[in-house]
Amino acid sequence: MLTLAMAAGGCSATGTGVPTASETTRTSLPAASAKPRCRPAARCTTRRLADAAGVTFGTAVSAAHLDEGRYRRTIIETFNSVTPENAMKWASIHPEPNEWNFDPFDRIVRFAGAHHMQIKGHALLFDQVDGDSTPDWVLAIDDPDELRAAIADHFTTLMRRYRGKVDRWDVVNEPLERLGTGQYDSHFRAVLGDDYISQVFEIAHEADPSARLFLNEAAAELLPAKAAALVALVERLRRAGTPVHGVGLQAHLVGGTVDAAALGNLIGRLERLGVSVAITELDVPTGPGPEAAATQADTYARVLRACFRTQCREVTTWGFTDRYTWIDTFLRPGLAPLPFDADYRPKPALEAIRRELAAAASG
Ligand code: G3I
Repeated sequence: MLTLAMAAGGCSATGTGVPTASETTRTSLPAASAKPRCRPAARCTTRRLADAAGVTFGTAVSAAHLDEGRYRRTIIETFNSVTPENAMKWASIHPEPNEWNFDPFDRIVRFAGAHHMQIKGHALLFDQVDGDSTPDWVLAIDDPDELRAAIADHFTTLMRRYRGKVDRWDVVNEPLERLGTGQYDSHFRAVLGDDYISQVFEIAHEADPSARLFLNEAAAELLPAKAAALVALVERLRRAGTPVHGVGLQAHLVGGTVDAAALGNLIGRLERLGVSVAITELDVPTGPGPEAAATQADTYARVLRACFRTQCREVTTWGFTDRYTWIDTFLRPGLAPLPFDADYRPKPALEAIRRELAAAASG
């Protein structure tokens, strides 16, 4: 297994180096000729391998852990992009009509800026079954004009404040039923109507016309009928001229495996609609032990390969250390879904990820 020292090993960059924060704000991929090469791969940090491959390799982060040295160092050595796990959800950052709690996300932005990382905004709108991401004061608004005005204020405040720092946004998170194929009956749909997704993408586009706007969905990579529903939804949005530029496939692979051919097929179908596709919340709960670790590594590898065989060039994991994972609370403890263990030691999954990044860099 890789040691952390090896994973963090130095290497020299012979290209233009890591892009500055301002260079990374509008494009996620450096031009091919500007790729910072790194050889031999075994001596490169995982982040260097991702940079060399022109791949956005990200993780969800929590401001609360940024004071922890090992947490910070592992991110710096491994990832070139971060997504706030919870800090930007409406209930966290804007809990009352006139109350903004910018501090946790500002800390993430400062950390990412200091280390020249990209930042994804997650999630402007998120109302799903048993979720607590939308504050009660928003759930209490039942007048469509009033709700649209609240959304416009929320989006505009965030998109202007973080303009030039956040380069892409999840505008609507999980618009479909969790295990079904219809639109989820969220508060926003109930008040604004079936076309609320188009309405809120328009609001986001108006708030920042240069921002890349994503729709982020769960479990489409696991459920063929939901995949078809997602493709149909995105097709409708594109036909209607909705400014949706990307689709995020979350990839919480709760069974521990994935049908990589189906995943590649789904990515291809979405790309043919004119959107870019990213893997946005990858984790693979398999449990402890060498056999589970091997299955997990293989699953991570197959997801990255399916992505890189298409135009997809972003993979974000939902956290990175088994020390902090939503799976412990929402599924059960001990499923160890991430590429580093609870003591920040790299697992076979990290080795597999590094192999795929190195192959993409040399391909
Ligand atoms: O911060 C409070 C803490 O003060 C309190 O003591 C504690 C008591 O339960 O709750 C803490 O807040 C929790 C928060 O996570 C931080 O741990 C919330 O209750 C809990 O609901 C929240 O869960 C998050 C969940 O989204 C709902 O927003 C998970 O961390 C986060 O990983 C998860 O992420 C989602 C993506 O945004 C969308 N896709 C699915 C993914 C996994 O569910």
